[in-house]
Amino acid sequence: MTSMELRKEFLDFFESKGHKIVPSSSLLPSDPSVLLTTAGMQQFKEYFIGQKDPQKDFGAKKIATCQKCFRVKDINDVSDASHHTFFEMLGNFSFNDYFKKEAIEFAWEFLTTKLRLDPERLHITIFEGNELVPKDEEAKKIWLEKIGIRQERIKEFGMKDNFWGPVSGAGPCGPGSEIHYDNGQEFSKNKCTIKGCGPNCECGRFVEIWNLVFTEYDKQLARDGEYEYKQLKYKNIDTGMGFERVLAILQNKPSAYETDIFFPIIQQIDKQIAGLYDVNPKPYRIIADHIRGACFLIADGIVPSNLDKGYILRRILRRAIRYGRVLNLSSDFLIPLARKVIEGYKDIYPELGDEQDNIISVIQGEEEKFNKTLEKGLKQFGKLISKISVEQTGNSKIISGEDAFTLYQSYGFPIELTKELAKEEGFEIDEKDFRRALVEHQDISRAGVEKKFGGHGIEGSKIKNDKIIKLHTATHLLHSALRQILGNEIRQMGSNINEERLRFDFSFDRKMSVQEIKQTQDLVNQKISENLEVKKQKMEYKQAIIQGALAFFKEKYPDIVTVYSIGDFSKEICAGPHVEKTGEIGKFKIIKEQSSSAGIRRIKATIE
Ligand code: SER
Repeated sequence: MTSMELRKEFLDFFESKGHKIVPSSSLLPSDPSVLLTTAGMQQFKEYFIGQKDPQKDFGAKKIATCQKCFRVKDINDVSDASHHTFFEMLGNFSFNDYFKKEAIEFAWEFLTTKLRLDPERLHITIFEGNELVPKDEEAKKIWLEKIGIRQERIKEFGMKDNFWGPVSGAGPCGPGSEIHYDNGQEFSKNKCTIKGCGPNCECGRFVEIWNLVFTEYDKQLARDGEYEYKQLKYKNIDTGMGFERVLAILQNKPSAYETDIFFPIIQQIDKQIAGLYDVNPKPYRIIADHIRGACFLIADGIVPSNLDKGYILRRILRRAIRYGRVLNLSSDFLIPLARKVIEGYKDIYPELGDEQDNIISVIQGEEEKFNKTLEKGLKQFGKLISKISVEQTGNSKIISGEDAFTLYQSYGFPIELTKELAKEEGFEIDEKDFRRALVEHQDISRAGVEKKFGGHGIEGSKIKNDKIIKLHTATHLLHSALRQILGNEIRQMGSNINEERLRFDFSFDRKMSVQEIKQTQDLVNQKISENLEVKKQKMEYKQAIIQGALAFFKEKYPDIVTVYSIGDFSKEICAGPHVEKTGEIGKFKIIKEQSSSAGIRRIKATIE
């Protein structure tokens, strides 16, 4: 079965069982508590907790998807037979519709009749229970009595393996029942003979292919500061099948890298160095995984930077480039690979085709940039290793944080890359010391940035007219709105106002979506229409900070500062002046959102 056929089989099957097919959501989740989409359920979080009505929004309470996912935590396992950064997850979901029995029956029917997997190779796990959540006797009974699985092929595991979620500390979650596939003893490293070898054995023989999660709890912080699991009002189903894993099984390949989704990329790499894949698959696999992930991240609007999502993209691109060196590939090897990825996926994910030029130019830019420093950086690293080998004796040899920081700062080596290089040589990095060096350096550059941009710099030395004052208050509203829409990690990097418009620069690693721009504009206008009072207070600088006032230009502030608060929406240390009530501002309009420099976005807005 081809990859195209597998996606279709899955979605057709669930459609025939009354499910509505919903497209994959972006890798950039609407839920700001997570960095990237890591599971199919993420776009449905609000439906699980009853905040939104699936019937109203989708016309159905049963849904099936093929969802783009990206898991940073698996990055170091990439190149084994079952982990990827980017991957596709096939899932069926029920919001207060069917529950355990149907979910288990659907999964079994699909695997054994549609995919025709040998039932004797399928093994089951269920949640063993703990002091907070009871053992899943119900699921066990269904497997035993309705499906007819023999007792010895059902194993029980704890929270780590058989309880899913919540994604970010709190939220919908529940016990799960997993289906594992037995690849046979030839897949087992060292031909494992452990008596308990079975699902979750690390030998590699068994692979988890489908996780059926019975989402019936909401994990929340209780009054006493501990988490508690409250029963959700509704019982839901969230399942996730590993598309790449199942594909490898269906195509009878050792891993997804030999299936139709990856093999064209592997072959493209092999064009330059013919025939090494069988001998040394690791670099090929890492490059193939990372270039695929990079194309999808860029298609969803991410650009390389040193922050959050942009940093993840930079990290995988630079790691792929470094592995290109290991294989002695030409310095521009990534572009033909990116083209293969786009070609292979654009019919399923049109954003890859639409963003083709952008994807190629972003990768080209990063490749050129890193190529300039990689060679020198590797030499520097080699020197460092020799020096430390002479200076340090004993088993563990440590690269100092300062040295790792130099590689980061002057040669563009992400810390994880240096760590990986160090590990290959049997060295470790003093990461704590590296973080300290990073923070120290950031303080220096922040001071530099502050000097350059000033506060809400107002052009001309005098406040000229009312419009400027209105734009000034609008800037405070915009600042808070951006933090609410994009997340509190955004930082003001500069501000400038003239009679025509305001200009606001802030740290953020990607283009804002049209929807985010609209949400921001709407939020500012909402605060204007609430006609909030703008209050001015003098207080000690320390007090202002304790109260949560935003301040970016610390060293310039005197001990006593002026704080402007707008309702309870905004609080900033600022010299003013401002309007008295937000209603005076008029209608706020964002006219442009663009890049200002790497990792910094710029908004221009006006008032009417
Ligand atoms: N949310 C579960 C998972 O990611 C099932 O979809 O495994």
